[in-house]
Amino acid sequence: MTGPLKVVVTVMMVNLFIFIIISRHHNQDKNRSKIVIPAKPFWNKLVPHTAYWNWQQQILDIHNNPIILANSTLSDLPEWLNDTNSGSDPCQPDLRVTTKIKDYNSLPQRFKDFLIYMRCRSYTLKVDQPDMCKEPPFDRRQAIRESWGRAGFLGNHSIITIFLLGNATAEDHHPDLSAMLHYESQQHKDIIQWDYRDSFFNLTVKEVLFLEWIQTRCPGARFIFKGDDDVFVNTHRILNFLKALPESKAKDLFIGDVITNAGPHRDKKVKYFIPESMYIGTYPPYAGGGGYLYSGDIAARLHNVSQHVALYPIDDVYTGMCLRKLGLTPEKHKGFRTFNIEEKYRSNPCAYNSLMLVHPRTPQEMIQIWAWLSNPKLTCQ
Ligand SMILES: *[C@@H]1O[C@H](CO)[C@@H](O)[C@H](O)[C@H]1NC(C)=O
Ligand SMILES: *[C@@H]1O[C@H](CO)[C@@H](O)[C@H](O)[C@H]1NC(C)=O
Ligand SMILES: *[C@@H]1O[C@H](CO)[C@@H](O)[C@H](O)[C@H]1NC(C)=O
Ligand SMILES: *[C@@H]1O[C@H](CO)[C@@H](O)[C@H](O)[C@H]1NC(C)=O
Ligand SMILES: *[C@@H]1O[C@H](CO)[C@@H](O)[C@H](O)[C@H]1NC(C)=O
Ligand SMILES: *[C@@H]1O[C@H](CO)[C@@H](O)[C@H](O)[C@H]1NC(C)=O
Repeated sequence: MTGPLKVVVTVMMVNLFIFIIISRHHNQDKNRSKIVIPAKPFWNKLVPHTAYWNWQQQILDIHNNPIILANSTLSDLPEWLNDTNSGSDPCQPDLRVTTKIKDYNSLPQRFKDFLIYMRCRSYTLKVDQPDMCKEPPFDRRQAIRESWGRAGFLGNHSIITIFLLGNATAEDHHPDLSAMLHYESQQHKDIIQWDYRDSFFNLTVKEVLFLEWIQTRCPGARFIFKGDDDVFVNTHRILNFLKALPESKAKDLFIGDVITNAGPHRDKKVKYFIPESMYIGTYPPYAGGGGYLYSGDIAARLHNVSQHVALYPIDDVYTGMCLRKLGLTPEKHKGFRTFNIEEKYRSNPCAYNSLMLVHPRTPQEMIQIWAWLSNPKLTCQ
């Protein structure tokens, strides 16, 4: 079992994530825009709730928002808002959740795994690319590398593609491909890996670690596209869009396939099921995790604010929660097709011309679509 295809397949099993950073070579934008003071209060006190996430978030709010505590002291707080955990190591298993959540014992295993480590946000970086953004690479997982994720320069922009991984563990029945991964990483130098279990409910951990990585390794990134490994991205279209973007809009850019008025699924059979004991309330507007595009400036603000938002097991909803805390709303863009396009158009090259992202596509399809779009002879209306 060797061969590049298998590698790509493995990659999919570990929920690999991809992103492209686009940075201008000469960044002379020193002008800061004016501070905008909101006319009305832009945050609300959370309604007291005993669902575990809401509860933990209220504790975080109490500790981080001086306004809430303005007229009172910590000792005036009701006992249920006491953060009796604050001194302990957040990365040690938090066994108190087993008694704090009344139906804990009947929850599916993935919730138990999530809750016990809900407070841990720091994991060892096993494979890093410290110089990634210092010296943009010219030659760089394979279908993506060979198609839309091709790194290098495009006009005055350098583009960097990296793959974000956790640990594909034997406990989750993954074959041990660590030797192949090591080889792949040496070959392409585009893999970042942390030492935590790469599972669906840990994608939020990946998000938080990624935001941290950006701040330390690529603080100058102008724009970031982050998405799943089973999407086709029309990099040409994204670059043209960014080129035409006025500076005033660039700073607060956050676009994708935005879902509004959603809330937790209460049907146990759904992948996105969340029990009442865990979360009560609606979700803020959020961009579906298939892929979204945002500014480096927002990445920095998300990194800061995420420290004040309790981890939530669904990563794209979590990012929406962080944006809400920043007073921002992600914007829906018609070019993001996380629910695919109509079947009759799928083999028409011109159907992809004006799109930014289509989900899902196989590696073979990615290469094919990229070839169509890169053909100078392609003419579309
Ligand atoms: C704090 O007390 C002042 C004066 O009584 C009041 O105007 C203000 O609304 C209170 N703030 C909060 C957050 O309760
Ligand atoms: C927790 O609550 C009790 C009773 O309200 C209070 O006496 C104590 O100071 C609180 N502890 C902290 C750390 O806030
Ligand atoms: C690239 O940057 C140079 C110098 O800043 C500028 O003169 C040129 O027009 C830019 N080219 C493109 C394609 O944006
Ligand atoms: C990650 O995988 C390695 C073996 O590939 C194992 O030794 C290590 O304990 C794993 N770490 C975690 C956090 O599961
Ligand atoms: C997340 O990763 C940590 C560290 O590997 C692990 O202990 C925990 O069980 C994982 N959580 C889930 C929901 O898989
Ligand atoms: C993030 O927090 C740090 C430390 O408090 C601060 O220096 C920085 O300006 C903040 N960045 C943004 C974009 O808010």
